[in-house]
Amino acid sequence: MRIPAHVEQVLRQRAQTGETLNVYVYDTSAMRRKLGLLKSIMPAGVEVYYAMKANPHAAFLRAAKEAGAAGIEIASIGEGRKALEAGFSPASLIYTGPGKRPEELRWAVEQRIRTIHVESLTEAHRLQRICEAFGATQDILLRINANFDIHEAQTTFSGGSKKFGIDEEKLDEVMPELLGLSRLRFRGLHVYAASGVLNVSDLLKNCELVFGMAADIESRYGGVICDIIDFGGGFGVDYLETGRDFDPRAYAAGLDALIRRFGYEGRTFFLELGRYLAADSGWFCTEILDIKESRGKKQVVCAGGINHFRRPAALAINHPLAIVRMHRDPVFPGQESVRGESVYFGGPLCTGADKLANDVHVDEADIGDIAVFGLAGAYGLTMSNIEFLSHPRPEEIVLA
Ligand SMILES: Cc1ncc(COP(=O)(O)O)c(C=O)c1O
Repeated sequence: MRIPAHVEQVLRQRAQTGETLNVYVYDTSAMRRKLGLLKSIMPAGVEVYYAMKANPHAAFLRAAKEAGAAGIEIASIGEGRKALEAGFSPASLIYTGPGKRPEELRWAVEQRIRTIHVESLTEAHRLQRICEAFGATQDILLRINANFDIHEAQTTFSGGSKKFGIDEEKLDEVMPELLGLSRLRFRGLHVYAASGVLNVSDLLKNCELVFGMAADIESRYGGVICDIIDFGGGFGVDYLETGRDFDPRAYAAGLDALIRRFGYEGRTFFLELGRYLAADSGWFCTEILDIKESRGKKQVVCAGGINHFRRPAALAINHPLAIVRMHRDPVFPGQESVRGESVYFGGPLCTGADKLANDVHVDEADIGDIAVFGLAGAYGLTMSNIEFLSHPRPEEIVLA
């Protein structure tokens, strides 16, 4: 990985303060460019929402707003409030996720957000009661756990036994009951197959299956139209630096062909993208505090670990890594260093799970250098164990 010059510059400036360096650096230019590109290439009817779970920092919400995202996909009342604070209107919020608390549903109905994506019959009935109490009618999508998964994805959200949505096989039971709930206006389907998918044809296969499901529902339930279809997120990024990036143009062309094949022109299609939009707008940068040789392998101990950057441990992958050389005076003459070897990077926490990277080849690193992990703009600080051991929260430095 190459560290952008302006990111390295800010790290060198910060290092001069003498404080241990442990920060996220954000530059949302990439996110803005990607949103602009998607808006220009996607077929008519496609609306790109930012899934703010990827990074709820105000800079990312601002980038989504200024670059023209259709709105924000929220997964909690907390996200909803942040999105409103960032200037998004309630009508531009869509709400997905299992286990929505009754007070969250009440808030969403009261705010008149655009759509609530119902994950179970319990949730549908709960929402019906809330709408009755408010005298409101709410647009909903039904989230379906399709009988389909994408094997190579980093995380799957459909196929097998899942807490997400309603099993495809149960549609016959669920649809009549759902349609009987007078305060819920059925608008269509939400089927999110998997996250971190690089292979466009796998995601398009999901779109095709969902279109088939919509056609089937419409043929069996007279008058029902799935006029909104939500494919969730899933566009991948190249964490392993294979040179194989997600190709949004191929996706747009494939989706366009499917829309025409099914005669779905004029309908609305939601994309709820997190990782693809946010990942390459952030770097986690943490100072190397110690290097030890332990039974044949170097252990590089950094200021921040899974308390600040949990994703590599949680997903068992290495993020792209580069070292900013600081050429500090040694702490003592015999201290260890890394020279052209495969090493382990961990943080300061009292658990063996505190891994930042393993078996990663490093040309040169010394104590006092800064380890910079790339593609950390998505699912970085937000999915970390921030309270564990009560270390100070890393600063988030926004460059753009
Ligand atoms: C419902 C929902 N939508 C969208 C996303 C964003 O997915 P991604 O970051 O893969 O684009 C997620 C991620 O977990 C999700 O659960």
